[in-house]
Amino acid sequence: SPGRYLAKQPSLRAVLRDPGGCEGLTGLVEEQVRVCRRQVEAMDAVKRGAELAVEECQHQFHSRRWNCSTLQGLQVFGKVLLFHFPGGLLSTRESAFIHAVSAAGVAFAVTRACSPPPKASPSSSRRRFPSAGFQWSGCSDNLSYGIAFSQAFVDSPERSRGISSGRVLMNLHNNEAGRKVRAGTRCKCHGVSGSCEVRTCWKVMPPFRKVGDVLKEKFEGATEVHPKRVGSRKLLVPKSSRFKPYTAHDLVYLLASPDFCERDPRRGVFGTSGRRCNRTSPAMDGCELLCCGRGFHTGQEEVVERCSCKFRWCCSVKCKQCRHLVEVHSCR
Ligand SMILES: *[C@@H]1O[C@H](CO)[C@@H](O)[C@H](O)[C@H]1NC(C)=O
Ligand SMILES: *[C@@H]1O[C@H](CO)[C@@H](O)[C@H](O)[C@H]1NC(C)=O
Ligand SMILES: *[C@@H]1O[C@H](CO)[C@@H](O)[C@H](O)[C@H]1NC(C)=O
Repeated sequence: SPGRYLAKQPSLRAVLRDPGGCEGLTGLVEEQVRVCRRQVEAMDAVKRGAELAVEECQHQFHSRRWNCSTLQGLQVFGKVLLFHFPGGLLSTRESAFIHAVSAAGVAFAVTRACSPPPKASPSSSRRRFPSAGFQWSGCSDNLSYGIAFSQAFVDSPERSRGISSGRVLMNLHNNEAGRKVRAGTRCKCHGVSGSCEVRTCWKVMPPFRKVGDVLKEKFEGATEVHPKRVGSRKLLVPKSSRFKPYTAHDLVYLLASPDFCERDPRRGVFGTSGRRCNRTSPAMDGCELLCCGRGFHTGQEEVVERCSCKFRWCCSVKCKQCRHLVEVHSCR
């Protein structure tokens, strides 16, 4: 049944203006409802962060067998994005990426949203954020607010489940790894005509695309781990002693992924039948790998392009539209 998922509300403001609006959102854990009630302004940024995460995931994976189209089925932020949860990707490398990119997306969007800082209004001093003692104002160009917010909001469903299971440890680790993808120093030169005698530098947020690129690399190099009791603590240790030890910046996962070749709705897998592929590419977007050896169909498609452009005095460019046919391939 369709719920009121945060990421699916066209007008969050309208929903949240109602008393009890935060409670009415589907799938928030208690701590998230509390954050929502006290920081209604931030919820737009949370929603934007979720959208950024989905867009980025789909960009990074568009030519792979798993193309992130099951993302809405995955349990991110508790169940904020959830409307159907297939469960098939739990604890895999893909879910590691989703957690990392979502935690980073929220930190990014929240930092963005309050920068430049709004003029402190009399009421803003009362809008305190519960878990971190920051105020909504005064977070200018400063990632620590966005990161603290993301920790409090994105991690709370995991924390509310208790740090007992391997999956909770995995999700928290990957959320944190996502938030560790930082900038970004920007510098400005001062000096006579372009010389750089004095430089002032400051930390900046990287463009989110850059965060996505870094996380994609971490996805490729993720470490398979298993939970192990060490003294009174449970830790995630590499499954094989031949694996490199992982750091706080790396992604970890507990379970091997399916091959994503065949459609399996129960696991939230679309399969690759019908997907566009590149006949000459040896990489994952090539027909050989993408189609899992099943072969491909070849067809033709009309493309429309601007052509025969002429510059007209003054000042416009007039083009014709040219149509031609190109060969396209899609997986059997
Ligand atoms: C992913 O692939 C499926 C088919 O396997 C397709 O229906 C879907 O539109 C694709 N999603 C994206 C975001 O490209
Ligand atoms: C960042 O913002 C927080 C909260 O407003 C503040 O405590 C901290 O000093 C700021 N850090 C920098 C480097 O500006
Ligand atoms: C297909 O792959 C080849 C080799 O990787 C590449 O040069 C070419 O641009 C690709 N074609 C398309 C349409 O992406």
